[in-house]
Amino acid sequence: MAGGLRHFIDLSAVAPQELRFMLDDARARKERLKAGERDRPFEGKVLAMIFDKPSTRTRVSFDVGMRQLGGETIMLTGTEMQLGRSETIADTAKVLSRYVDAIMIRTTAHERLVEMAENATVPVINGLTDDTHPCQIMADVLTFEEHRGPVKDKLFAWTGDGNNVLHSLIEASARLDFRLNIAVPRGSEPEAKYVDWAKAHGGRVAFAATAEEAVTDADCVVTDTWVSMGQEHRARGDNVFKPYQVNGALMQHARPDALFMHCLPAHRGEEVTDEVIDGPHSVVFDEAENRLHAQKAVLAWCLGR
Ligand code: CP
Ligand code: NVA
Repeated sequence: MAGGLRHFIDLSAVAPQELRFMLDDARARKERLKAGERDRPFEGKVLAMIFDKPSTRTRVSFDVGMRQLGGETIMLTGTEMQLGRSETIADTAKVLSRYVDAIMIRTTAHERLVEMAENATVPVINGLTDDTHPCQIMADVLTFEEHRGPVKDKLFAWTGDGNNVLHSLIEASARLDFRLNIAVPRGSEPEAKYVDWAKAHGGRVAFAATAEEAVTDADCVVTDTWVSMGQEHRARGDNVFKPYQVNGALMQHARPDALFMHCLPAHRGEEVTDEVIDGPHSVVFDEAENRLHAQKAVLAWCLGR
């Protein structure tokens, strides 16, 4: 919250009861949609969406979600805007705020998102940065709870690269009080500031020496690409990450009813095998669907509906 505006920048910036409110609202709006009931609080409202990186799910789910709520969207790509010709983020934020009711941005450096929020006079939503991906984790928690009930005290296990999605999962573990085991190769650890923040806020985050150790008795196993967007120059090769692959043998260490999650897009045969992503533990397409429902609740929270 800044200047009375409700921005959705990071899970660490939103109180647990507000996150819980959004998760409940997401579930209610999903039920309303499935029942064919009217839910159009945003008639006359416009969401601007700026993409500095590719997207399928975030782009389509925000677009469809806003339309389902009665509003409209404008799709912008950074390179086609004056932003790509060195107009500042601050000036862009001030101008867009004169036209639209909310801004969603997917960008590179997290500071760009923060600068947008500091200069906008409408709510700004994080659609992924190099550092975090809070909308994804809202959808993941919604998905887990639909299948297995409250996340509180459950054990999540992350194996693979320590990236933006993991950072938001770490924040969520403290905010929503679940346990999180992490196994990553040396040099791919999540940034310490996220772990430190979580631990300072009651988070139960632990590092494991191996993927097997991290996953043991887990209620949910989560992974993501080994090479995030814009990080291609830092690609470390399959050999480094192979011991962290989620495959059938690894899933044997988790609880028999464990869920498997992946934000998608997946790199089949790398961070996850077909056997797992297409297998009985996997809820990846429920997760993808829930981006829509979770983000409708985020939009409603930001816009006070
Ligand atoms: N999971 C996710 O954010 O997907 P997109 O990159 O397709 O938006
Ligand atoms: N960590 C991935 C997530 C994609 C949704 C990336 O940043 O590319």
